[in-house]
Amino acid sequence: MKRILITGATSGIGKALCLLYQRRNYDVIACGRNQQALAEIGVLKNVSTLNFDLTDREQVIEALATLPELDVVILNAGSCEYINDAKNFDGDLFARVITTNLIALGYCLQSVLPKIKKGGQLALMGSSASYLPFSRAEAYGASKAGVAYLAKTLAMDLVKDEIHVCLINPGFVKTPLTDKNTFSMPMLISSDKAADYIFKGLLKGKREIHFPAVFTFTLKIFAWLPDFVWSFISTRMINK
Ligand SMILES: NC(=O)c1ccc[n+]([C@@H]2O[C@H](COP(=O)([O-])OP(=O)(O)OC[C@H]3O[C@@H](n4cnc5c(N)ncnc54)[C@H](OP(=O)(O)O)[C@@H]3O)[C@@H](O)[C@H]2O)c1
Repeated sequence: MKRILITGATSGIGKALCLLYQRRNYDVIACGRNQQALAEIGVLKNVSTLNFDLTDREQVIEALATLPELDVVILNAGSCEYINDAKNFDGDLFARVITTNLIALGYCLQSVLPKIKKGGQLALMGSSASYLPFSRAEAYGASKAGVAYLAKTLAMDLVKDEIHVCLINPGFVKTPLTDKNTFSMPMLISSDKAADYIFKGLLKGKREIHFPAVFTFTLKIFAWLPDFVWSFISTRMINK
């Protein structure tokens, strides 16, 4: 039986992944802070839970100290907050988002990498928001751009350890995180559908899993064009 560790397994995409891998007979280690949600998934066959705040280095090290060997690790947990007034920049908000989405990955990597088997997989949750600058996403976009760089460098440096690294870049997925958004979210998909894309992509050994394809390829095309093209379009969108 293969063993997988998933962070952010109490909600949204992480919870859908946890349930999907459990159905596929994986031994699942589900991580999060929400005790009630952890208790609910912890009763499932072959699911064990770990409760810790991944922004607290000591908690992460302690919680993950006695991990068994792992076949797959998905560092999925994350948060999103927007900078509503760039002129009066909220440095605390910026630090919060960067800490949860990027700094905490360092704490997790320190603990989980020694446990991943040769031939195992590490997946980091990025976002298609990192392809292009989006209004109010100074903190979230910067954190996910950092995750993308981290995943791509780890992919090179872990070849010798036979650990395959994958970057996951979703478009909009309906979860408690996006339920807070007040703008329209094109091509929104369910968290079950997102989990299905991720599961299949990891089975195929992809380096980047991005979905839904029409949405992410459109963003990729804009990212290849000269900066002024996206700048023109996004400025028009903001001023609408
Ligand atoms: N939804 C989208 O459209 C979308 C698109 C692109 C990328 N993503 C990325 O996908 C990932 C999952 O997002 P989601 O939409 O599924 O959001 P979600 O439903 O809000 O789930 C976020 C998960 O992260 C965990 N988490 C957050 N802060 C934590 C902390 N300090 N310590 C421990 N766990 C923490 C939460 O656990 P607790 O509640 O138990 O603390 C929860 O399980 C995030 O990295 C997000 O940036 C989402």
